Amino acid sequence: MERLRSVAVLGATGLVGREMIKTLEERDYPVSKLRALASPRSAGSKIVFRGTEITVEAVSEESFKNIDIALFSAGGSTSKKWAPVAVGSGAVVIDNSSAWRMDPDVPLVVPEINPWDATGHKGIIANPNCSTIQAVVALWPLHKEAGLRYVNICTYQSVAGTGIKAVETLKNEAEALLAGKEIPDGGVYPHQIAFNLLPHIGAFDEEGISEEEWKMVNESRKIMHLPELKVSGITVRVPIFRCHGESVTAQFENELAPEKAKEILRNAAGVVVMDDPKNEVYPMPITGAGKDAVYVGRIRKDTGLNNALSMWVVSDNLRKGAALNAVQIAELL
Ligand SMILES: NC(=O)c1ccc[n+]([C@@H]2O[C@H](COP(=O)([O-])OP(=O)(O)OC[C@H]3O[C@@H](n4cnc5c(N)ncnc54)[C@H](OP(=O)(O)O)[C@@H]3O)[C@@H](O)[C@H]2O)c1
Repeated sequence: MERLRSVAVLGATGLVGREMIKTLEERDYPVSKLRALASPRSAGSKIVFRGTEITVEAVSEESFKNIDIALFSAGGSTSKKWAPVAVGSGAVVIDNSSAWRMDPDVPLVVPEINPWDATGHKGIIANPNCSTIQAVVALWPLHKEAGLRYVNICTYQSVAGTGIKAVETLKNEAEALLAGKEIPDGGVYPHQIAFNLLPHIGAFDEEGISEEEWKMVNESRKIMHLPELKVSGITVRVPIFRCHGESVTAQFENELAPEKAKEILRNAAGVVVMDDPKNEVYPMPITGAGKDAVYVGRIRKDTGLNNALSMWVVSDNLRKGAALNAVQIAELL
């Protein structure tokens, strides 16, 4: 008989938290009890799980008593504060924030790639960044065949990746501009996002590299156990609501023909190949939004590098980029 688990979701009212609750339900995760946690701001509000209303509670020292699995999606500082409390109460924390990802004592897991790393946890398992997950799901099967040497990733990231307030910001700005008005104050980005592109995700370091760009470098290396892997690129916020696109150029030790890469990816876990560009078949954010897979298309020989392929990778940042990957880790446990 399957063992039932008591589950807490911290950040239950946010974009990722809501998607985690939906994913637990859709995948029929064996939940005996679900506790929905957030800040005092939304304590008392209701969420629905398996047809039953659950009241959201403000997270407290008591929240994790008798909880087996705690799914966190409430930001880095909240994670730093509450993950040790949850672990102290006996729960295993699966954390969506960046707080613990590069901690050597914390496994960073994509179940299609390094599920065994989860077994070495000391109470906390980190879920990688959304844009990293979709890139490595597509790269890993190709690496196993031809040996990855260098990868360049340019991202086209939806506003859902910034959270619920960013979705409102894009909607409000687009409505105002289409009505011929000024964009309203109170948006979450440093510039207008509607009908614009922001080459700015996270703070910049002294060399002009953004936090999101460093996540791509460091998390890819950790997940695939390739500490010397060369990674470069740019991360860009685009004015779409949900689902990220990525232009990925990968150079390998050995030659890898595009047709062979397509065959490998067609058989890869979690990947759907959509690649018939002459007939206008390639993945787009509207293809991936609300879906589980990492969609790959435009697989072709790179025109500038030896032994290199370029491809276009699309995946829903709230599903495989966050909630689904976290629930898959819970399934591993
Ligand atoms: N969005 C994505 O695609 C994505 C992907 C991967 C990882 N992540 C990470 O997941 C986390 C949540 O992202 P999101 O997009 O779901 O954000 P969001 O929509 O803004 O939701 C934030 C959630 O965190 C809760 N929260 C905030 N401060 C809190 C506090 N001090 N104590 C308790 N709860 C608190 C909020 O509760 P209230 O309702 O009470 O404010 C809300 O439930 C972030 O760490 C983010 O980096 C997001």
